[in-house]
Amino acid sequence: MKTRSFLLLAVAMTMAACSGADSEKDYRIIDNTIVFDVPERIEGQQSVLGLRTEPLDTVRVGFIGLGMRGPGAVSRFTYLEGVQIKALCDLLPDRVASAQKILADRGLPEAAGYSGEEGWKELCERDDIDLVYICTGWQLHVPMAVYAMQHGKHVAVEVPAATSVAECWQLVDVAEQTQRHCMMLENCVYDFFELTALNMAQHGLFGEIEHVEGGYIHNLDEFWDQYQGNWRLAFNQTHRGDVYATHGLGPACQILDIHRGDRMTRLVAMDTKSINGAATAEKLMGAETFANGDHTVTMIATERQRSILLQHNVYTPRPYSREYQVTGTEGFANKYPVEGFAFRPDNLDPDAVPDHENLNEHSFVSDEVRQQLMEMYKHPIAKDIEELAKKVGGHGGMDFIMDYRLIYCLRNGLPLDQDVYDAAEWSCIGELSAASIENGSMPVEFPDFTRGDWNKTKGYRHAVAE
Ligand SMILES: NC(=O)c1ccc[n+]([C@@H]2O[C@H](COP(=O)([O-])OP(=O)(O)OC[C@H]3O[C@@H](n4cnc5c(N)ncnc54)[C@H](O)[C@@H]3O)[C@@H](O)[C@H]2O)c1
Repeated sequence: MKTRSFLLLAVAMTMAACSGADSEKDYRIIDNTIVFDVPERIEGQQSVLGLRTEPLDTVRVGFIGLGMRGPGAVSRFTYLEGVQIKALCDLLPDRVASAQKILADRGLPEAAGYSGEEGWKELCERDDIDLVYICTGWQLHVPMAVYAMQHGKHVAVEVPAATSVAECWQLVDVAEQTQRHCMMLENCVYDFFELTALNMAQHGLFGEIEHVEGGYIHNLDEFWDQYQGNWRLAFNQTHRGDVYATHGLGPACQILDIHRGDRMTRLVAMDTKSINGAATAEKLMGAETFANGDHTVTMIATERQRSILLQHNVYTPRPYSREYQVTGTEGFANKYPVEGFAFRPDNLDPDAVPDHENLNEHSFVSDEVRQQLMEMYKHPIAKDIEELAKKVGGHGGMDFIMDYRLIYCLRNGLPLDQDVYDAAEWSCIGELSAASIENGSMPVEFPDFTRGDWNKTKGYRHAVAE
């Protein structure tokens, strides 16, 4: 190792040791770049890229975590065909009882109930469950997902699937060892606008996609004290970086064919001072410090020299936004604050001298054209289920489309729309961005969770039964 790198490594280790919650970091600094270790695939462990498993006529499900998010999932599942809800689990017994009522109200039989700190283990150990659906706080996702897969279950786990790079590897390794599906429940890739834009991109309307933006801008003031045991604010209190990146990153990765022909190679991140976050934590927890900046920005480069811009801000009074924007050589899509598409003004007179004062040439297509495009390029998977999805709901229907696709793929033995590598790639941003920020916005190399297979699949596609 060069002397300079060695010195930087020593500095990094000291900084890491001083930087707060996690005293052990799994990275080295090589030539001014942070590099996370990529563990060897152990013998007998096989890739789960394109994993197909035995088709399940009926998918028997157990839910863990019945707080703000979980009961909605239970309710949505009562509208799905080919599903049996076998078990419900929460730390708190009264939450299990409330979820049982959802089943009763829909005329369904009572499910087995589990509660307490370790009730979820008994749920995972049952032999009449195919899928464990996890809606607990972030730090319980990986222990629960790993245990479920090790007990032969497929796993669906809320966002982010993991809270560190090491946890991401755990998910990948256990999915590969057990050959079970592990899908992160990233619902925003099923939003009608994002799905339509993806379909338009796949039909070439935007030309070559060069840049995508995404984010999570959501003032959580009214929610902080609702998270059971204060898990969310407590996590942010000790973690810098974009700790909730997947809603913005998921749609970006699908449209850029990440690990299906391109891959994220490096990022840099920076954050602002924590003013509102710190004040909230002082008020609610008596905290004297707060690690997470009020606004965090992350820039990502890909192998094919395309870029992604991510933003995270859950503290300041801004309107909700996932910042979704797609920039291509031939067109542009934008979701917030108004949905719109723009294309080359090919109806301009090519012989006329361009009027540089006329900025209208570069504006969005009319509302009428936008609506026609939204209809014409409605994604086939949204077409299939749109009416029921809008009736059942869940963020306007996207949550139901997600659940419907999960069950459809499991029943047909198809690869899921999101695999464990997506879960790892989208979730690792938390620790990678923190590492960048803690080292003066130093570039961070992405670990290749596919271990070299990122270019084997050509293009992102939703699987469909023959
Ligand atoms: N995709 C989305 O749009 C979306 C929206 C909201 C939340 N989420 C995600 O859903 C997850 C849950 O968030 P929430 O808002 O419902 O939080 P919450 O605090 O309301 O719910 C968490 C639940 O887990 C339970 N729990 C804690 N320890 C447990 C244990 N040992 N065994 C079983 N249950 C246990 C708690 O009692 C609580 O009911 C988080 O990962 C969050 O990021 C996703």
